[in-house]
Amino acid sequence: TTPIILDCDPGHDDVFAIWLAAGDPAIELRAITTVGGNGRLEHTTLNARIACTVAGIEGVPIAAGAAGPLAGELHPADWIHGDNALGGPVLPEPTVPLDERDAITLMRDVLEASAEPVTIVATGPLTNVAVLLRDHAELAPRISRIVWMGGSTTRGNVTPYAEFNAWTDPEAIKITLDSGIDFTMVGLNISHQALITREVRDRLSAIGTPLSTFGVELLEFFCSTYERAERMPDGPLHDPITVALLADPAVATTVRTRIDVELDGTETRGATSTDLIDILGREHNATVALDLDVDRFWGLIERSLRALG
Ligand code: BDR
Ligand code: CA
Repeated sequence: TTPIILDCDPGHDDVFAIWLAAGDPAIELRAITTVGGNGRLEHTTLNARIACTVAGIEGVPIAAGAAGPLAGELHPADWIHGDNALGGPVLPEPTVPLDERDAITLMRDVLEASAEPVTIVATGPLTNVAVLLRDHAELAPRISRIVWMGGSTTRGNVTPYAEFNAWTDPEAIKITLDSGIDFTMVGLNISHQALITREVRDRLSAIGTPLSTFGVELLEFFCSTYERAERMPDGPLHDPITVALLADPAVATTVRTRIDVELDGTETRGATSTDLIDILGREHNATVALDLDVDRFWGLIERSLRALG
């Protein structure tokens, strides 16, 4: 099994990443840390606790991290995720507690206590990851790899070229890439293959548990905001592709390449420049996920919901 720390900003699709990480037998979820992104930190942290509460995930510490990006202000994605970052279902009071440590301390403790290197999965802005790498460079050998949902080899979704997690904290991407730790980008180019079709929603509904009902209510809301914001009736379930790639590498094709992030740019701040044709001849510094085996992916999602019961 692969031990992971999941750093996230729930967010509808982050919730499915949490459930996949907790429900898949190939993954050992050691900690959840939260960051300001889709919503303000108080919401993303509350939502992580709610995601665990509804799925009966106990004993996984949850700690809150950075409220906003390294530079500038946070602009939550409320047009997609709603005011509380988890629009749709009636949200229960969480029974799963908040760890009293901050996210960086929890990450450090998990890394130091582990007998083997741990993978960091990040499904929000990379702020916490960058702070960890900047302030605790000595921990780098304890991190086996970083798998991040964000960026894109093609289009953006906040500006024409910048994806939301990348656009929120581009400086954090730079710090993460410069750390030299094995880095995988799961960008919009692949996440837009994970479309939450009506068939997918029906398939998950058919599980027939309170968890699947809650999950489908999340998906219905998410698809309705995508329809409004991007004229896509079937929204893309971005974040769990990261966890799926670890649970079952055959779920996607990947390629080694060069990624640089635009920190300036009048129109392109936060764009991930991915040199798939090696035109710059720079040293490769990352892996990029390209093609999703869509059926395999939804199979993993369905299996995790069934496993959580
Ligand atoms: C990313 O931004 C958020 O809205 C999603 O949770 C995902 O991490 C997609 O651009
Ligand atoms: Ca996210």
